[in-house]
Amino acid sequence: MCAVARIVLGITGGIAAYKACEVVRLLVRGGHDVLPLPTRGAERFVSAETFFALARRERPADPYPHLQRADLLLIAPLTAHTAARLAHGLADDVLTEAALAHRGPLLVAPAMNSAMWEHPATRANFETLRARSVEIIGPSAGELAEGEVGWGRMAEPAAIVERALALLGEQAPSTLAGRRVVVTAGGTREPLDAVRYVGNRSSGRMGVALADGARRRGAAVTLLAANLGVPAPAGVEVVQTPTAADLEREAMARRDADVIVMAAAVADYRPAAAGDGKRAKSAEPWHVELVPTVDVARALGSARDPSQVLVAFGAEQGPDGLVRKRAMLDDKNVDLVVYNDVGRFDIGFDSDDNEVTLVSRDGERLVPKAPKPAVAEAVLDEVERLLAQRRR
Ligand SMILES: Cc1cc2nc3c(=O)[nH]c(=O)nc-3n(C[C@H](O)[C@H](O)[C@H](O)COP(=O)(O)O)c2cc1C
Repeated sequence: MCAVARIVLGITGGIAAYKACEVVRLLVRGGHDVLPLPTRGAERFVSAETFFALARRERPADPYPHLQRADLLLIAPLTAHTAARLAHGLADDVLTEAALAHRGPLLVAPAMNSAMWEHPATRANFETLRARSVEIIGPSAGELAEGEVGWGRMAEPAAIVERALALLGEQAPSTLAGRRVVVTAGGTREPLDAVRYVGNRSSGRMGVALADGARRRGAAVTLLAANLGVPAPAGVEVVQTPTAADLEREAMARRDADVIVMAAAVADYRPAAAGDGKRAKSAEPWHVELVPTVDVARALGSARDPSQVLVAFGAEQGPDGLVRKRAMLDDKNVDLVVYNDVGRFDIGFDSDDNEVTLVSRDGERLVPKAPKPAVAEAVLDEVERLLAQRRR
């Protein structure tokens, strides 16, 4: 619990700067000491005087107020421009200097037009920030300043303040706090010879988002990483599991974890034999026999403890997919199946977004298309609900 927290609030140059007034007001109402740091860009939208008046303080005479200790650095709204400056460690104004000098949690609320949010440069910058354990809230889908509807709308001030208070330790602890959580992520590669393999297109983004989310909720997280195409999050134990056999061995060694989330795409088949060296190129066909691998979800399900929560991901294609996933609950003895339709090109494998249906014994819930970290939050909420049921 943090009594009066000192919060440095960066405000950058987007239309949503006006919503930062409400963020200041809510934080001050909660009894916190807020130092507003609007950029020159932000002052084109709302004057610095407005923020200082709401924060009930004078504009500081000290030229270095931003370099003093703060319990939290919050930037809302965060423009694409300042996200790029943060990702690259630039320090060309008071806010970015403060960010480089700050050693506590950093929470950012991006707001921008959807094309800017989806640009590869912006995505890469946010990946960098996420890998550095920066907390990112939103953006959400909705009506944008230009009148179009899309991703890029800043999270609501009340939600931003709630997350800020959670980071300051002012919220009821999550049921995941102190729990041992294992997340599998990525796609296994089954060797054909020393250089070739049978693999799949999974990048590991979904599993990484789940591991990061569980860590933020206070869990002790182990990530079983199968050939990740994105950086593993900071603050979690990472165990490399490149093949299905590696993943099975490491998962079974941790089968007593409180929660196991199997988000990795584990090969169903592997070559029966793998050559030691590189097979020489030849004009002859190469016939490969594929044999089934061990079904890790089934193995964990049959070795499980009833107090544990087991989550399996199911990639399927076509209208019968959901029916097969419902059957998986009993067939593999898991508590939650996260079903995604890999027949769609805009979600799932190797994409930034996902749309899933959460299938449990209590029913089904659609999580509409959203960036994977947002989908991960919905999955973890469901895990918490199931864990709470176990306690009753
Ligand atoms: C009317 C207007 C609205 C803007 N809205 C946004 C926005 O919502 N998000 C964003 O990333 N940039 C937006 N920009 C661009 C930024 O203001 C610009 O990149 C600026 O350099 C940001 O500087 P700062 O990040 O230091 O505040 C907007 C620009 C204008 C003129």
